[in-house]
Amino acid sequence: MLEQLESELARGRAAFEAATTLEELEAAQVSVLGRKSPFGQLQRGLGSLDEAQRRTVGARVNAVRAALTDTLEARRAAFRDAADSALLEADRIDLSLPGRRPRGGSLHPLTLVEREVIEVFVRLGFRVVQGPEIEDDWHNFQALNIPPDHPARTMKDTIYPAIPGRTDLVLRTETSAAQIRTMQSQPPPVHIVSPGRVYRRETSDATHLPVFHQVECLVVDEGITFAHLKGTLEIVAKALFGQSRRIRLGPAYFPFVEPGAEVGVSCFKCDGAGCRVCGNGWIELLGSGMVHPQVLENCGYDSERYTGFAFGMGVERVALLKYAIPDMRMLVENDARFLSQFEGVA
Ligand code: PHE
Repeated sequence: MLEQLESELARGRAAFEAATTLEELEAAQVSVLGRKSPFGQLQRGLGSLDEAQRRTVGARVNAVRAALTDTLEARRAAFRDAADSALLEADRIDLSLPGRRPRGGSLHPLTLVEREVIEVFVRLGFRVVQGPEIEDDWHNFQALNIPPDHPARTMKDTIYPAIPGRTDLVLRTETSAAQIRTMQSQPPPVHIVSPGRVYRRETSDATHLPVFHQVECLVVDEGITFAHLKGTLEIVAKALFGQSRRIRLGPAYFPFVEPGAEVGVSCFKCDGAGCRVCGNGWIELLGSGMVHPQVLENCGYDSERYTGFAFGMGVERVALLKYAIPDMRMLVENDARFLSQFEGVA
């Protein structure tokens, strides 16, 4: 038995050393130390020995088991260490590689321009108000002197949202509706600007979009004259396009103003001489006028006591001019090569 024990010790050690994976080691453990292994049988055979023999052989059995277990555990620890270092190796990162800078976004050019326009008015003391994009016929048309059969509707007929029980709703065609809502909600004096999206039944081309943005301006007080309108326009045009800009006013018709004027600004490229940007030296910028007395009355203002001026500026138009963008549709195509050029502008 003692000889057998020695050979089992040698066989076991060899088997543990020979295992190349943890699985092989587990299998060797069963075959070397398991119940059915020669060692297991020797252990059980102790019972048939007399006491003196059992003491000698028993001590050796214990010593052999301890030796084999030590070898086994040492091998097991070696496998675990190897697995750990393999994991660490796989996770190794090269700290000397240059970092990947996350792409920064930028504000959309329309947002930039709208903010810039608003900023000019805020410096002048105007309040910023916002109207709903879904308007009713009265605010969008009737209160602005555009009755149901008025030809001015044809140009601007827009999208009528299908909302159950409402037949009078329209996507607003201009921010001028915000004039009406403001005057209805407060007594004079009024100094507001109202930015926002507007909708028209229009085919897009280089200078038109069916969805675009305006900034509306409205001033109502006692003694407001055309001179106030002109002075304000001049300040705004210079602030947006440069101090050397001049403005020019020409007659224009809008049902809600009297008189009405379209406003051009001298071309920033040729300074009024005429060039490829402007054609004749002037760039048409916006519609304006003195608030029609009937509009004031429609909102409950006394038109004998109060007068006012208003104008509405197209934000896309201003963006095209300021950034020399050749086609308005570029503003809505979401081409990152275009948009990324505005990184860091604001
Ligand atoms: N609402 C007009 C337009 O969209 C512009 C305008 C505003 C004209 C205010 C006069 C007064 O064309």
